[in-house]
Amino acid sequence: MLDISVNIKGLKLENPFILASGILDENGYTMKSILDQGAGAVVTKSIGLEDRTGYRPPIVVEVSGGLLNAVGLSNPGIENFGEEVKIALKAGKPLIGSIFGSNTEEFLHLAKKMESYGVMAVELNLSCPHVKGFGSEVGSDPDLVEDIVKELKEKIKIPVFAKLSPNVTDILEIAKAADRADALVLINTVRGMSVDIYARKPILTNRYGGLSGRSIKPVGVRYVYEVKKETGKTVIGVGGISDYTDAVEYIMAGSSAVQIGTALYTEGKEIFKRISEDLKNFMKAEKFETVEEMVGAAL
Ligand SMILES: Cc1cc2nc3c(=O)[nH]c(=O)nc-3n(C[C@H](O)[C@H](O)[C@H](O)COP(=O)(O)O)c2cc1C
Repeated sequence: MLDISVNIKGLKLENPFILASGILDENGYTMKSILDQGAGAVVTKSIGLEDRTGYRPPIVVEVSGGLLNAVGLSNPGIENFGEEVKIALKAGKPLIGSIFGSNTEEFLHLAKKMESYGVMAVELNLSCPHVKGFGSEVGSDPDLVEDIVKELKEKIKIPVFAKLSPNVTDILEIAKAADRADALVLINTVRGMSVDIYARKPILTNRYGGLSGRSIKPVGVRYVYEVKKETGKTVIGVGGISDYTDAVEYIMAGSSAVQIGTALYTEGKEIFKRISEDLKNFMKAEKFETVEEMVGAAL
């Protein structure tokens, strides 16, 4: 019997395909619609303490093989987000609340709020590459990462996922610091930049941005493989997945589930149904009965 459901530390997903944070997930209705259209789960936009407008446009630019973005963690703030969660939860599927803060107290406050709103897990954004004082600035400090994860594991009941940055010298040091997390999410965007050669200046107002999409897939697969091999931890892979072959690569490198972001812009929401069907056909042809059997097959 072919079964593509997965279980991530008690979080049951009908398929291993999750919407990544930051793409069509600031609004309850769009999150619900993506779940209704076949996503196994949705990660919300990263939410902080206060509402933020983010950077002035241009905040996204298309580059070969993907997108470069510096949105600036724009979000409505945690107090205004409960209503969106409530709407998305009507889909009856898992919602994962992404949060960002600059210290342990902020993360704890945000995680408790998300838990009270009814999300089934929290994902810590320790990896946004383009906002001072948040994201990868927090996520590249192993002591701080360890403290945040420890505190949350002690004080909240739902699973805690730590989303790490590829923009560090030694990912294993950070992965080990986040050891108490229920799963590690790898990777956030890769720091990059694009120049307008006629204006003779960087295109993004923030100058630097985060690269996503097809071009970063080999980077993501490598991080997943390395972290899985060295730590044995549960890993959720993300970066450049746009069809079932990309997903299977990530799974065989050690991912227990995968997230999809940028491909939503090119493939539409229908990607979730199609990729589940294609995965089933692949598993049938290759004689796999469960996703679990494929996890880490390339290790
Ligand atoms: C426009 C945009 C906004 C994003 N916002 C967030 C965010 O708020 N929090 C976060 O953890 N990751 C954010 N990401 C990163 C994605 O969740 C994902 O890690 C990355 O894009 C790689 O996956 P992909 O190639 O499938 O897009 C964002 C990515 C894009 C393109």
